[in-house]
Amino acid sequence: KSPQREVFASRGAFIFAAIGSAVGLGNIWRFPYVAYENGGGAFLIPYLIALLTAGIPLLFFTYALGHRTRAAAPLAYRSFSRAAEPIGWFKTGIAFIIGIYYAAIIGWAGCFMFFSLKLSWGDDAESFFFGEYLHLGDPGVSFEFVPGVLIPVILVWIVTVGILILGVQNGIARFSKLFIPLLVVVFLILVIRSLFLPGAGAGLNALFTPNFEALTDPGVWIAAYGQIFFSLSICFGIMITYASYLKKKTNLTGAGLVVGFSNSAFEILAGIGVFAALGFMAAAQGTAVGDVASGGIGLAFVAFPTLISQMPGGAFFGFAFFACLVFAGLTSLISIVQVPIQALREKFGWSNKLSVFIVGGLMAVISVLLMTTITGLYVLDTMDAWANNLGIVGAAVLALVMVGWVLRKLPVLRDHLNAVSSFKVNKIWLACVGVITPVLLIYMLIQQIITFATEGYEDYPPGLLGVFGWGMIGLLAVVSIVLTLVKWPQSSIDATKIAI
Ligand code: PHE
Ligand code: NA
Repeated sequence: KSPQREVFASRGAFIFAAIGSAVGLGNIWRFPYVAYENGGGAFLIPYLIALLTAGIPLLFFTYALGHRTRAAAPLAYRSFSRAAEPIGWFKTGIAFIIGIYYAAIIGWAGCFMFFSLKLSWGDDAESFFFGEYLHLGDPGVSFEFVPGVLIPVILVWIVTVGILILGVQNGIARFSKLFIPLLVVVFLILVIRSLFLPGAGAGLNALFTPNFEALTDPGVWIAAYGQIFFSLSICFGIMITYASYLKKKTNLTGAGLVVGFSNSAFEILAGIGVFAALGFMAAAQGTAVGDVASGGIGLAFVAFPTLISQMPGGAFFGFAFFACLVFAGLTSLISIVQVPIQALREKFGWSNKLSVFIVGGLMAVISVLLMTTITGLYVLDTMDAWANNLGIVGAAVLALVMVGWVLRKLPVLRDHLNAVSSFKVNKIWLACVGVITPVLLIYMLIQQIITFATEGYEDYPPGLLGVFGWGMIGLLAVVSIVLTLVKWPQSSIDATKIAI
């Protein structure tokens, strides 16, 4: 007999878990600089269009898939056709990869919580982060571990596995229900505080002054769609997995709207807070906001520490800021790790605990081996670029082309959504999921492949990109096909509502 399938106790529990997954590091450090670099206030136009034409429609699509089949991605796709199963494994693999490096960033943020208290970075936050903290070496792979990174990353994995072992309701949902409200309150206090810093207005002007010319640049639109995908955690198999734990009668589209808009609200709030703070820093240093608004990891671990040193009460402010990163990150990490846990559990008929130990243990070991050495940051950066820009977009294209164009199953999903939901989907939804999004994504994918193939990435050595970029994606594809060849246990098939 099949092991009893876990469920969320209520729709509220699901919504908290889904918001917990969506609200993450991407909202806090990714959105502000992506918006800033892509037209400022004008970026909100492509961003909202991407949310409405791709983000929310795809949330509905993945909720319908998971809820209808009550299965994680591989089995959910398998229910349509055997040819679709590798897509499910590919998404599962991407989640596996992202978890490996996402854990490392949470570990750094955990350290920086405590560094804030003593302003440990002195007056050169940049050399502190890259040099003293990460011990960054030459690009290439090394197995020289950095203890200051090793220990926090191990702790992150212990906490993550500890939550997941408690199960879907008692672990994932309860943790999110506790920490998401706390996160919102602390973050709101930080944002309000930042608005009262001298120079905050100039920061907000820098972020929101619209550059409408940017709207004619296809790159800006790609950035908007990319941000929406990453930020809503779609196409990583997460939402399929979470929706598979919902009870039979659940208002899916209502939940999707709540999750989609909450995530964007948090993101815009973060943009306001981050740029108010950057405005203060620019004023303190007598420079333009543009000079202090560096992108990516540097924003959180270099620009913010610098700022924390300069502001009154910085130690407390810094501690709270990094605590927000840690908790936003942890609720996302558990959602990522649950994807391979559930998928492999279904494929091999394991119990939940066994699957948590095998998958969590394996991810933890790989994460520690790759991310905590002196070259960890280069490996991380490469994996991130390929997994996000190629892997995710590729997985989304494969999924939409296969389900929508080849198998023509979108009407099945539409009918499923409408049978259980309050907000009904119609032709517009079919047009978004069946035409607009796949066409755009195919264009994005081709552009990205050309860029990586011709320009490489960040001057990293081709060997590094070959192994952790192209090689990793290739390995994923092979593993996806091999796993598809493994037979499904009867117990897992019985547990889904669909005959395969
Ligand atoms: N959505 C999360 C964020 O905004 C990131 C994430 C990506 C989480 C992929 C899970 C999977 O940070
Ligand atoms: Na997000």
